[in-house]
Amino acid sequence: MTYSVAVSGASGYAGGEILRLLASHPDIEITTVTAHSNAGDPLAAHQPHLRSLAHLTLAPTTPEVLAGHDIVFLALPHGQSGQYTDALAATPLVIDAGADHRLTSADAWAQFYGGDFHDPWAYGVPELPVAGGKQRANLVGASRIAAPGCNASTVSLSLAPGVSAGVIDPSDIVSVLAVGPSGAGKSLKTNLLASEILGSANPYAVGGTHRHIPEIRQALLGAGASGEVRISFTPVIVPMARGILATSSAPIASGVTDAEIRDAWESAYGDETFVQLLPEGQFPRTADVLGANTALVGLAIDRAANRVVVVTAVDNLVKGTAGAAIQSMNIALGLPETTGLTVNGVAP
Ligand SMILES: NC(=O)c1ccc[n+]([C@@H]2O[C@H](COP(=O)([O-])OP(=O)(O)OC[C@H]3O[C@@H](n4cnc5c(N)ncnc54)[C@H](OP(=O)(O)O)[C@@H]3O)[C@@H](O)[C@H]2O)c1
Repeated sequence: MTYSVAVSGASGYAGGEILRLLASHPDIEITTVTAHSNAGDPLAAHQPHLRSLAHLTLAPTTPEVLAGHDIVFLALPHGQSGQYTDALAATPLVIDAGADHRLTSADAWAQFYGGDFHDPWAYGVPELPVAGGKQRANLVGASRIAAPGCNASTVSLSLAPGVSAGVIDPSDIVSVLAVGPSGAGKSLKTNLLASEILGSANPYAVGGTHRHIPEIRQALLGAGASGEVRISFTPVIVPMARGILATSSAPIASGVTDAEIRDAWESAYGDETFVQLLPEGQFPRTADVLGANTALVGLAIDRAANRVVVVTAVDNLVKGTAGAAIQSMNIALGLPETTGLTVNGVAP
């Protein structure tokens, strides 16, 4: 069976990456692409690298245009998806790349986003440890999927094995992330001009204000954290188009051995294709995962500081968004999970 697909936000970064991956997915036919201010333009005017889709034209994003497909991807600014999801009640599978359906707490939504709160959907991070197993089980047969925030899933995947196994203390997490500006989308912003970011490292959302904080807390509570999850989270924009390098640390739980710590991550990810723990003493680079649906994880045990340090690299547009969405789609549809996705990055 071939599934017909509509991708909204197709002129943007997340929509473009969803299209790039779907274009080589054997079970998918991309029939409709939509945009907002750029509706009416050829897709190729905004995604000139997508040569196999150059025949498509951007339609306006309306419920009528999106209806009638087997699968709809929403890749819109947060707060915009909810208005379409109600109108797409008859669509068998809807996948939202935005934040609108990620949070289970209306209070957290009000505090970090504001505006209407919408129902939480199945969270699209299959490898995430959750009580009793992996998030993958919750995606089987799902009809509504919320793809993750890129920074949030990177940090959650970094620490959830340790939280789940009880070998780290989640009440004192510190995460500092080097992030590429594509994570902020394609629309023009002064602080993202080349002249502002080339040759500079620029922190933003410092001091507990970043919108991905409640998503990480939710994931780590779901992984079995007992008690408080507290995270100091600082992203730093660096001059690379895409990529996240997240360095996260948390105190070692008392009485835990080094072997027990490493075993927590080995048992969580040993059988996973797309989340890979590097050998002891090795740490990832963003260059190793560009274009790949891979999260590479390096683990250090710093006894002097009494902290576990986890360094994780992902491509924000692949494992952080589009790849996670398509991997989750494969699981929901009962297709082989890796279809249309690669573990291999583009280097140098
Ligand atoms: N970038 C990432 O790495 C990343 C990672 C994870 C999740 N996400 C999420 O993916 C979503 C899209 O992000 P992005 O980075 O792709 O942003 P983007 O590059 O700015 O693209 C936004 C897209 O949404 C369309 N759009 C803007 N306002 C709209 C409206 N009022 N109604 C309908 N469509 C509208 C735009 O169309 P026009 O161009 O025609 O105006 C464009 O196609 C966001 O919710 C973001 O949080 C992004």
